[in-house]
Parts: sequence; structure tokens; C-alpha cells
Amino acid sequence: MDITILGIESSCDDTSAAVIRNRTLLSNVIASQAVHVKYGGVIPELASRAHQQNIIPVVDTALKEAGVTADKIDAIAFTRGPGLLGSLLVGVSFAKGLSIARNIPMVEVNHLQGHILSHFIDLPDRDLPHPDFPFLCLLVSGGHTQIVEVRSPLDMRIIGTTIDDAAGEAFDKCAKVMGLPYPGGPVIDRLAKEGDPRAFAFAKPHVEGEFDYSFSGLKTSFLYTLRDAVKQDADFVEHHKADLCASLQRTIVDILLDKLIRASKQTGIRDIAIAGGVSANSGLRDGIVEAGRRRGWRTFLPEFRFTTDNAAMIAVSGYYRYMDGRISSLDISPVARLSDL
Ligand code: KG4
Ligand code: ZN
Repeated sequence: MDITILGIESSCDDTSAAVIRNRTLLSNVIASQAVHVKYGGVIPELASRAHQQNIIPVVDTALKEAGVTADKIDAIAFTRGPGLLGSLLVGVSFAKGLSIARNIPMVEVNHLQGHILSHFIDLPDRDLPHPDFPFLCLLVSGGHTQIVEVRSPLDMRIIGTTIDDAAGEAFDKCAKVMGLPYPGGPVIDRLAKEGDPRAFAFAKPHVEGEFDYSFSGLKTSFLYTLRDAVKQDADFVEHHKADLCASLQRTIVDILLDKLIRASKQTGIRDIAIAGGVSANSGLRDGIVEAGRRRGWRTFLPEFRFTTDNAAMIAVSGYYRYMDGRISSLDISPVARLSDL
């Protein structure tokens, strides 16, 4: 029997709705919020207002593009957290409203598990490569950096995590220091292509946890390098932008790969995936493929449109949960932190 799922994602600053049939994507609509650019970061209050404006047109468009009416939907999958509470509330409340109005069950999805399960989306005209279980996923987003051992779509274990900043935050904060626009990750990625990745050396962390990460020391080291250099040459950043970006990106990728390689050695798992916004980074993508080639890994890189926040990944996660009978109750509320989920 065919199962049709409507997915809704509103955890940060992208409002998205997607429709899948079984695991095949029928539509995936994303409204990105431009309102935050001029502030150099996401303003939570403005994000929730924009979600409120976007959610109905976005869902409507997703249904139309999929050629599906609301009465054909078997379940509504929605992001329960982690994320910005005010943003999550819009998606959760919308899901409840539609659930009550049309008598459709709701299925909650953990946003981070959604990123990981983006590797199981199929397209109508071609199958995408799927990792075999168990696999390791390096999850790198704006708010989280983790190594996850994925045993099944419903059974995941975090074996490493950042003890301070996330990799995406390191990109965004260093970009801000250089006066680059938000979000800084894609801008640094672009500028790095013109620079020398060995031009500057920044501090690499020594973290106790075998598979854990830290990025705050790198951020400080980057800041001090700039501060000292600007004293000698006021236009230092302007003159060395590409080299700074290339060196920063190389350092972040080296840090990420070091612990991932250890985790693969230790667990013996050699199906390796990456997911989350930072998995769009060309340095990381090249680095994973290169490390995999040397180590006999099978590497899995998500299509670019499934790296940053999207509802397709929420719909696929919802599909697995629905098939396992995991229906959420109507009194469910969103949660901001992963530890509360
Ligand atoms: O997964 P995501 O869309 O949102 C969260 O769940 O946080 O990730 C957003 C993060 C931002 O920090 C952004 O700068 C980063 O992903 N990002 C990138 C690239 N594209 C997005 N970082 C480095 N290189 C990129 N090409
Ligand atoms: Zn995300």
C-alpha cells in the first residue's frame, strides 16, 4: 500500500513543506527568510513571524506541486526540535490544526535525525545511493556537530559531539569577524577556492572525549591572528581574505576528519555519510571522498538541496516512524534542546 506523508520543517529560518509517497519525493518547497541578513544572524522573533506568514502558502504549494490533496495524506510529519522555540511552535501548531481538521495522524521528528535520514530520500526518476546499516554519519549543522552511529532509521547513537561551538557556528562567527554576510559558511566556501589553505596556521583543539569536538579555541585563535595583523596593516583582512578563508576551512575540515577517522577505526564501520548544512562545504566533501579513497570507505554525500534545512528529510523520517506505529498525541509541544527531546 502506498503511504503519503506531508513533512513540515520550521526549526530555524527556513519554512519548508514536502510531500513523499513511500520514500519518493513528490515536492519539496523551501521559503528562506531574507529578513535576517541585515542583522548578521537569525533574530528569533522575526523568524517566527516569517514562518507564520510563509507556512500556509508553502504547504499549499507543496501539495499542489505533488498533485496531492489533503485527504490523500496518511500522516503529517513535523519537526519537534531541537531549534528555536518560537519557530518550532508555528510548525507544530500548524500540524495540529491540520491533524484535527482532517483527522490525519501526526508524527514528530527529531530535526537532527531528519538530516541523517536525508540519505534515504528517493527521486521519482532515479534512486539515490543509500548507506547500509550500521553506518557512521558526521552531522554538521549550524547548531550541532556529532558523530552518530546509525543502526537503523529508528535506532541511532551519538558517539561524539561538540563540547562548545558547532562547525557551522565556527564558519559563521569567523565570517562575521571578517565582515562577511550571514550565513558565512557558503561565503567562506566560495572565497576559499581562490586562497592558499596553508597560508595561516590556527590552533587545533585537544579534546578529552575520543570522538568529541571543540571549535571555540579555533575561533579565538582566528580572532587573535586577525587582531594582531590588523595592528600592522589596517586592510589586512581585505588583502588576505581568500587565504584566511582557505586556511580556516582546511583547519575545520581537518578537525572534523580526524575524529571521524578514529570513530571508523574504532567501530570498524566503513559506510560513512555526512549531513547537515556544513555538508554542503566543498572542502569537507572533497576531504571525505579523499579520506574514503585511502581507507576503503563507501562515502555518501547528500545532494546540495538536502544539506541545509528542508522538509523532505522530515517527511522521510516521518515515514519510518509512521510505519513503526509511532504516532504523536495532540498535546505534544516543541522542544528547543536536543537533551529534552
Ligand atoms: O543544517 P542547517 O541548514 O541548519 C541547522 O540545522 O543549523 O545548517 C546551517 C549551517 C550554517 O552555519 C551555514 O553557514 C552552514 O550550515 N553552511 C555551510 C555551507 N552551506 C551552509 N558551511 C560551510 N560551507 C558551506 N558551503
Ligand atoms: Zn538543520
